[in-house]
Amino acid sequence: MRLDKLLVELNIGTRSEVKALLKKGLILVDGAKVNKPETKVDEDTAVISYQGKEYRYKKFSYYIMNKPKGVITATEDAKEQTVMNVFYRQVKDAPRGLAPVGRLDKDTTGLLLITNDGQLAHDMLSPKKHVDKIYFVTLDGDLTREDIQALESGVRIGEGELTAPATVEYNGGNTCYITIHEGKFHQVKRMFFAVGRQVVELKRTAFGNLTLDESQLPLGSVLEIEGSNIS
Ligand code: URA
Repeated sequence: MRLDKLLVELNIGTRSEVKALLKKGLILVDGAKVNKPETKVDEDTAVISYQGKEYRYKKFSYYIMNKPKGVITATEDAKEQTVMNVFYRQVKDAPRGLAPVGRLDKDTTGLLLITNDGQLAHDMLSPKKHVDKIYFVTLDGDLTREDIQALESGVRIGEGELTAPATVEYNGGNTCYITIHEGKFHQVKRMFFAVGRQVVELKRTAFGNLTLDESQLPLGSVLEIEGSNIS
């Protein structure tokens, strides 16, 4: 890959900014100063140094966030704070092209995957792949055994919209875990609404094999993970 392209990919600057940095001799490739933007480098092995920091190219990056309340799941928005605003405040030198995988409502907290691996994102969201999502749900009242049976066998949440079988694990009082593998709009809230209950708190605790460990990932924080571990 051309060096200037690699520096842009690494988010060191725009094409013209990185050209200027190269001209000033501020960029080292494997410890040696390189000035020419067109220099070919092996992106898989090159270690780039700039301002005392080392950068290595990765085709794709993967992060998990414990999404806080009050931000929308979008890359950018003219009015609202987005999960990516929260993300970039913490991961200042993140690569380009990152986006959240799927959507959590503004008032939902919990596990959100952020990546620039479009194929993985597509696979994780594809209805055909049946990727499990687990939510911890706090309701406005207790669930009955009949409610649980209804939720588990599928409920009507809208015109012609029947949910696939789910698993509900009662957690005492007005709380439970629900496992679904679909991603319909406001699905969990609408499922409980269908049995006459209102969701008052919603937190996603798992997405595929990724699980939320709040001691490692407090609300609003971000952790980089290995892509090969995600399924
Ligand atoms: N279901 C919902 O209703 N809201 C979410 O944020 C996620 C799933």
